[in-house]
Amino acid sequence: MVYPLPAVLVSCGSTPEEYNIITIAWTGTISSDPPMCYISVRPGRHSYEIIKRNLEFVINLTTEKLAKQTDWCGCRSGSKYNKWEEMGLTPGEAKVVKAPIIMEAPVSIECKVTKIIELGVHHMFMAEVVNIRVDDEYMNPKTGKFDLDAAHPLVYNHGNYYQLGKKIGKFGFSVEKKTRKKKK
Ligand SMILES: Cc1cc2nc3c(=O)[nH]c(=O)nc-3n(C[C@H](O)[C@H](O)[C@H](O)COP(=O)(O)O)c2cc1C
Repeated sequence: MVYPLPAVLVSCGSTPEEYNIITIAWTGTISSDPPMCYISVRPGRHSYEIIKRNLEFVINLTTEKLAKQTDWCGCRSGSKYNKWEEMGLTPGEAKVVKAPIIMEAPVSIECKVTKIIELGVHHMFMAEVVNIRVDDEYMNPKTGKFDLDAAHPLVYNHGNYYQLGKKIGKFGFSVEKKTRKKKK
């Protein structure tokens, strides 16, 4: 059990009739240059054939506000429901891929599949990241940087959803030199 993880909303399809959303926890970054991600999907999912046919998908990060949509899209199938309408989610045009982005998500990562590995009950879609769209609402005007913390990311831990906890350090803090206080 490798937890905690994000639970992401993966959008797929190349026409509005085909557009679907699947909640995925088996996901992650697998290379930074070239930027690559993966998702692992069971062949029985409605989204599986859509992704296999189009060889494209979008990973949309989720937030506390999107908790209900994240769970619902992971409990209901696009073969029976229009998840966009049921959950009040808005498909937006992606820059590079035909699959739609989810406008309500703070970050949408457009992916093109490079390899499908039939591992077992899950098949892994390895993909190259071809574009990333971030919601301007979370751009910090002071630093000019994107502030994902402000979007309140959703965390998935062994069957339960959580908010992020208290910050306890930053990358490299354990090896940082301590600055001495100047004597007066
Ligand atoms: C939190 C969460 C994480 C999930 N992670 C995965 C996953 O990594 N791979 C997968 O195939 N299904 C996963 N599922 C199940 C699918 O999202 C679910 O079967 C969904 O209804 C499939 O939708 P579809 O039939 O419209 O494609 C997850 C569900 C939830 C709630």
